Amino acid sequence: MTYTIALLPGDGIGPEITRVVRSALEAVARLRGLSLDFTEHAFGGASIDAYGEPLTGSTLAACQAADAVFLGAVGGPKWDHAPVRPEAGLLGLRKALGVYANLRPVSVHPALANRSPLRAELVEGVDMLIVRELTGGIYFGEKTRPDDAASDLCAYSREEVERIADIAFRQARMRRGKLTSVDKANVLETSRLWREVVTQMGAERYSDIELDHMYIDAAAMHLLRSPGDFDVIVTDNMFGDILSDEASMLPGSIGLLGSASVGAARPGLFEPIHGSAPDIAGQDKANPFGAIESAAQMLETGLGESAAAADLRHAMNAMHARRQWTADLGGSLSCSGAAAALMHELEGVEAGAA
Ligand code: IPM
Ligand code: MG
Repeated sequence: MTYTIALLPGDGIGPEITRVVRSALEAVARLRGLSLDFTEHAFGGASIDAYGEPLTGSTLAACQAADAVFLGAVGGPKWDHAPVRPEAGLLGLRKALGVYANLRPVSVHPALANRSPLRAELVEGVDMLIVRELTGGIYFGEKTRPDDAASDLCAYSREEVERIADIAFRQARMRRGKLTSVDKANVLETSRLWREVVTQMGAERYSDIELDHMYIDAAAMHLLRSPGDFDVIVTDNMFGDILSDEASMLPGSIGLLGSASVGAARPGLFEPIHGSAPDIAGQDKANPFGAIESAAQMLETGLGESAAAADLRHAMNAMHARRQWTADLGGSLSCSGAAAALMHELEGVEAGAA
């Protein structure tokens, strides 16, 4: 099977971690007999510098023609005052690809429990999935900026809520059968629609799923008090952005978390949840695991190659067990050192399988 994969390294640490992803994908492709065609495109700030816009027509066309898209990271202080910011390219890409569902799994490997800022006994066994709506809400509503005022419109249609809730209910069915819908229905009209739609779907089509609702503020608290209670969380674009950064501290570093953004059809978009980390960019310090986890999600969710995805996760887990970590987790590996150790793990699998 041949797959075309569009790589968008982007800015900051994006290029470093994208390099690691490419070698890791090449290694599992050898192992599993897949053939991968990579194309690489300027994106975000790098594209602004080269072409004056964060997402060019030709980059978008290449992404649309691919089987899957991997994105490193975008943004940085250099473009903070640019007329169009790098982030606008990311939002435009998500919208153009129609990837309305962003899946952000959070689990804690036993060796990581002590790396969490929370007590180990609170985070041990945590295994949750945050399903974030990605192409609607306040991120995409009309924005105005007349003189000394500003507004961002938050809008959702029934259909937008239904399709994201549907994905979340199905994920819950494949996991532990529990779904927590997070909103602010005591204040926001969009949240009242959200709650109404999710409740109705739960009663009519997913009565086997244990559904509960939580306000975003209470959910933010509960995530720290009792993170093990969550299985699948479904929430809107803004709340999901915030809650997933908070949840990344359960395993101890945002550098560990990957995400899959999917819609009705291929290609999906796969990106770590962390940003471009300009403070450590180019210093070979980045944790590549969030990017590799995103690559695993690309193989599994985007291409249906679960065995190859499992190889990547197996290799990362072996490294966790030996505490082979980058500095964000208190380890001594560089980004390229972590990549070399991962390749060693994968080659072990390769040798074993041969
Ligand atoms: C994320 C990021 C993006 C977002 C930024 C870079 C626009 O924070 O993927 O979580 O807010 O969606
Ligand atoms: Mg974010």
